[in-house]
Amino acid sequence: DSSPSAGQAEGHQPTVIICIGMAGSGKTTFMQRINSHIHTLKKPGYVVNLDPAVGQLPFGANIDIRDTVNYKEVMKQYNLGPNGGILTALNLFTTKFDQVLNLIDKRAPTLDYVLLDTPGQIEIFTWSASGAIITDTLAATYPTVVAYIIDTPRSTSPATFMSNMLYACSILYKTKLPFVLVFNKTDVVSHEFAVEWMTDFEAFQAALEEDTSYMGGLVSSMCLVLEEFYKGIRVAGVSAVTGAGMDELFTAFDEARKEYETEY
Ligand code: GTP
Repeated sequence: DSSPSAGQAEGHQPTVIICIGMAGSGKTTFMQRINSHIHTLKKPGYVVNLDPAVGQLPFGANIDIRDTVNYKEVMKQYNLGPNGGILTALNLFTTKFDQVLNLIDKRAPTLDYVLLDTPGQIEIFTWSASGAIITDTLAATYPTVVAYIIDTPRSTSPATFMSNMLYACSILYKTKLPFVLVFNKTDVVSHEFAVEWMTDFEAFQAALEEDTSYMGGLVSSMCLVLEEFYKGIRVAGVSAVTGAGMDELFTAFDEARKEYETEY
């Protein structure tokens, strides 16, 4: 454990972890798990909830978008559907993000981690101006890493796996931040198959060809794109439910932070 003790190091900065995951990937359970792991490590953490539509948070958030905007009211006022309501709520909140940053700044010297929970509908954060503004603002100030949470049991077919990896890849290129792929739900299915597919290009290509009717050329080019993607990222397998894999995960976060410090 090499990070400085809380409140002691001059110029100490927390690592900001932006948690992104498709609906059902277990993002909320994962947030709860890493939050409690940080407590176990006796390291101070700070939680920011950016999901205006989350019903109940199983962890306390220091800053909660729901305290500022009521997305159901936003839906009514602007005559929007649920996704439009969530997006507009996030936009309204983003106009006040300087205040959020001020609050984080005040606490930053005593914090080791700032955890950001993003809306359950992934594209509302990853493909919106607000998501980009929040990400860029944080990354301009603090060592910031992205944790992309994957539903491992739902990614065991090569075609689904490839789609999920291409999506992760698009987020990497949009955020341009150090990236940790988090294979969640390893209590149900181990992520070993994924590690094999990520390291053995031919094994994956063979599996994919067997599984889909894609033309060989497309499959090969996709595999090459992904090979490049895998080179620059870190992988961890966890179970948000049992807590397995937390040490490996936090090692990956530390390495991602080091990458930020050398590259950004
Ligand atoms: P939001 O989009 O933020 O609402 O979160 P989410 O839907 O991605 O995740 P949530 O934590 O609600 O989890 C979705 C489902 O996956 C729930 O039924 C969880 O109990 C389950 N789940 C989450 N993590 C794990 C895990 O590590 N193992 C198993 N077996 N189930 C999990």
